[in-house]
Amino acid sequence: MDPVHLPRLFPPRLLDRLREVAAIDTDRCVQDFADPQYRALLADTEVLITGWGCPPLDEAAATVLPRLRAVLHAAGSVRWLIGDAFWDRGLIVSSAAQANALPVAEYTMAAIVFAAKDAFAARERYSTTHLHQDPDETAGVGTYGRRVGVIGASRVGRRLLELLRPLDLELSISDPYLDPAQAAALGARLLELDELLATSDIITLHAPDLPETRHLLDRRRLGLIPDGATFVNTARGALVDEQALTDELESGRINAILDVTTAEPPPPDSPLYRLPNVFLTPHIAGSLGNELIRLGENSVEELDRYRAGTPLIHQVRREDLARTA
Ligand SMILES: NC(=O)c1ccc[n+]([C@@H]2O[C@H](COP(=O)([O-])OP(=O)(O)OC[C@H]3O[C@@H](n4cnc5c(N)ncnc54)[C@H](O)[C@@H]3O)[C@@H](O)[C@H]2O)c1
Repeated sequence: MDPVHLPRLFPPRLLDRLREVAAIDTDRCVQDFADPQYRALLADTEVLITGWGCPPLDEAAATVLPRLRAVLHAAGSVRWLIGDAFWDRGLIVSSAAQANALPVAEYTMAAIVFAAKDAFAARERYSTTHLHQDPDETAGVGTYGRRVGVIGASRVGRRLLELLRPLDLELSISDPYLDPAQAAALGARLLELDELLATSDIITLHAPDLPETRHLLDRRRLGLIPDGATFVNTARGALVDEQALTDELESGRINAILDVTTAEPPPPDSPLYRLPNVFLTPHIAGSLGNELIRLGENSVEELDRYRAGTPLIHQVRREDLARTA
C-alpha cells in the first residue's frame, strides 16, 4: 500500500497485534513488487496485507510471490487488485468492504434525514432572511412517513436499511437479485426500479459499478423521479448519466446529494459545485480519518482466523466479482 496509509490503518496497538500473530516487518511497505530490495522478502511471503496504492497482483507479481496464500485487503474492492494468475492458484482473498459499508451507510442516513428536513434549502434561506421557517412552508417536510427508495441490497444498502429501520420512514428497495420475502426481511418493499423512482421522496443509490449498471440511471429514469425529490449518490458516478442529472438539477426540478461523480473531482466549471439544490462532497462517505482503523482491525481479525485455520468471514470469491463492487 501507499505507506501514507499504514499508520492510519494500523495505529501502534494494531501493529503490536500484527507482530504478535505474524513475522512481519512493519517498517517495510511494498509499493513495487519488482523492486529488487524486496525480492527475498516477497519470495517467502505467505500473506499480504494490502491497501490503497497497492500495485495490481498481476502475472509479473505472481512470479515474485510464489508462496503467497492469502491477501487481506484493508480497503474495499479487490476487483482491480487480484489478477487471473492468483485466482487460478486458489489464492484466499478477503476484503474490508463490509467494514467500509458502515461509514457510507452513516453518511447516507444523515443525508436522508437532512433531505427530509429540507435542511440545505433552509440553510440557504436562513442565511439571507435571518428568519425562522414559516410553518406554512414546511407542510410535507420532515421524516415522518417519508418514502425512501434504496437501489441495491448491497453491503452498504443492507447496512443503511438497518440504520433506517428504527425511523418512521416508508422503505422500498430495488435489486434484481432480491425476492419480495428477502426484501421484507430487510424491512423494505421490493419494487421494480422504475416504480421505485416514481414513488420515492428520497432515492439513494447503492449498486456496484458493473458493465450492466453503467448509466443505470439514464435520462428516462431520472425523468421518473418526482418533482421536489432528492437523489443521493454515494455509489459511483458511472451509474448515472451525469449530463442528464445536471440538466434536471439546473432546472431546479429535483435535488441531489452527491459524494461521487463521473470525474472526481468534476471539472472546475461543473454546475454541480454551485447549484443551490446540490450538496456535493469529495468522496468522503467511505472510511476516512479515524474510520480507517476499522479497516485495519478487519485485516488483523482475518489474519487471526487465517492463522487459526478457521474460515475467513470476509472472503471474496472469484465468482462474486460478476455482481459485486
Ligand atoms: N462513496 C464511498 O466512499 C464509497 C465507499 C464504499 C463503497 N462505495 C460504493 O457503494 C456501492 C455499494 O458498495 P458495496 O460494497 O455495498 O457493494 P456490493 O458489492 O455489496 O454490492 C453487490 C450487490 O449489489 C446488488 N446489485 C447488483 N447489481 C444490481 C443492480 N443492477 N441493481 C441493484 N442492485 C444490484 C446485488 O444485491 C449484489 O449482491 C458501490 O458502488 C461502491 O463502489 C462508495
